[in-house]
Amino acid sequence: MKKAKVGIIGFGTVGTGVASCLIENSSIIKARTGMDLILHKIADLDIERPRGIVLDKNILTTDLNLVLEESDIIVELIGGTTTAKKIILKALQMGKPVVTANKALLAKHGNEIFAAAEKMGTDIYYEASVAGGIPVIKSLREGLAANKIEKIYGILNGTCNYILTQMAQNSQSFEDALKKAQELGYAEAEPSLDIDGFDTAHKIVILASLAYGNWINPNNVYTEGIRNISLSDIKYAKDLGYTIKLFGIAKRMNDDIQVRVHPVMIPNGTIMASINEANNGIFIEGKPIGGTLFYGKGAGMAATSSAVIADIIDIARNLKHSSSRRIPCFTNDKHYGILLPMEEIDSRYYLRINVTDEPGVISKISTILGKEKISISSLIQWETSETSKPVPIVIVTHSTYEKNIMKALKKIQTLSIVHDKINLIRIEDLQ
Ligand SMILES: NC(=O)c1ccc[n+]([C@@H]2O[C@H](COP(=O)([O-])OP(=O)(O)OC[C@H]3O[C@@H](n4cnc5c(N)ncnc54)[C@H](OP(=O)(O)O)[C@@H]3O)[C@@H](O)[C@H]2O)c1
Repeated sequence: MKKAKVGIIGFGTVGTGVASCLIENSSIIKARTGMDLILHKIADLDIERPRGIVLDKNILTTDLNLVLEESDIIVELIGGTTTAKKIILKALQMGKPVVTANKALLAKHGNEIFAAAEKMGTDIYYEASVAGGIPVIKSLREGLAANKIEKIYGILNGTCNYILTQMAQNSQSFEDALKKAQELGYAEAEPSLDIDGFDTAHKIVILASLAYGNWINPNNVYTEGIRNISLSDIKYAKDLGYTIKLFGIAKRMNDDIQVRVHPVMIPNGTIMASINEANNGIFIEGKPIGGTLFYGKGAGMAATSSAVIADIIDIARNLKHSSSRRIPCFTNDKHYGILLPMEEIDSRYYLRINVTDEPGVISKISTILGKEKISISSLIQWETSETSKPVPIVIVTHSTYEKNIMKALKKIQTLSIVHDKINLIRIEDLQ
């Protein structure tokens, strides 16, 4: 039986999960690949810390180069965009196939990394970089390869989904829900990557780049997180028949595409609205397939290591049959015009505006909206006994261009009757 030596760089959450599963499921993996996959080396800065797994002492090393030199398959699991990039490029230059879960690195330097793999005629696999346990990258590269992709959207960050679920179901404030997410290990002590939408942006960039055949720069993707979502937004959304989620969205719009990340209000009763806690959900629509939906765990040791090992298995099969690059890691076949700027998208909008409770307020606001050709679909102002305090009014608009709503908001924000920053949430009707 052919053998392949697996070298893991990074013995943290995912690295530990991968090592454990490679050992525990070794006979299943051997049967499915027809290869003996040997856990050869694991490198980490700290090889003394207990990781809850018993290993031969010779496996652990602090020498990254040793792993690169001695292993047949290199698994990068340290994260970050500097050392990880160097390791991956070096491995590829040595002609060694690589597995990575590093979405931040791929979103930023995917172009360069994939070009290096192509040049060296070797493979890079990255299933775990998007939605952990959901095989969405494999689906785009293989199962949906016949399709012209029309849209991809969904919940790509479990931390944000957990926070929004706690707010909606247990009336927790954003701050309390974030604290709970941190206590449970769903959110980092410095949570910005997740809650400000960057992690979702990395993932939608990877999916959109694969779907539309051109590497998209994350700096050109509008990215807004969930910090501004308040409990009152959640309650108003419920009254209006919607649920608030953080979405990554990539869509065709005529010949062009839009890629964006922001909170959305989606209709209650849709499957997406019922995806709660730390779960992920991704909808892909293509021609000829129509719509297809993926659901599952997006992160965590178990889901992520399952995806990493699936990639190791793919590589082992390629090695066995000397067929590397049978499924290219990325194909440059750009089939759209431009990545549209955010001003060009159209949407319905929810606006929550805190105003002085006095006659004529609604007419002032609706006049400005009217001038920008924005029509109101519904309006809520609950009665209040505290006449001295600003009161919220909520407006839902019909579909309009982002540039029109932004122009109107700029003017409304300067009215003396308007207090606080106006909160805007885009509405996706998911049709
Ligand atoms: N955790 C998840 O659920 C998940 C899901 C999807 C994708 N991912 C991705 O998977 C990758 C790994 O994530 P993780 O959660 O396993 O991270 P982690 O727990 O922080 O593990 C990373 C490990 O690599 C070590 N390391 C850092 N720099 C190193 C270097 N220069 N040389 C050797 N070792 C080094 C770290 O050591 P120190 O602790 O001493 O720094 C740590 O033990 C990241 O790219 C992440 O985005 C993770």
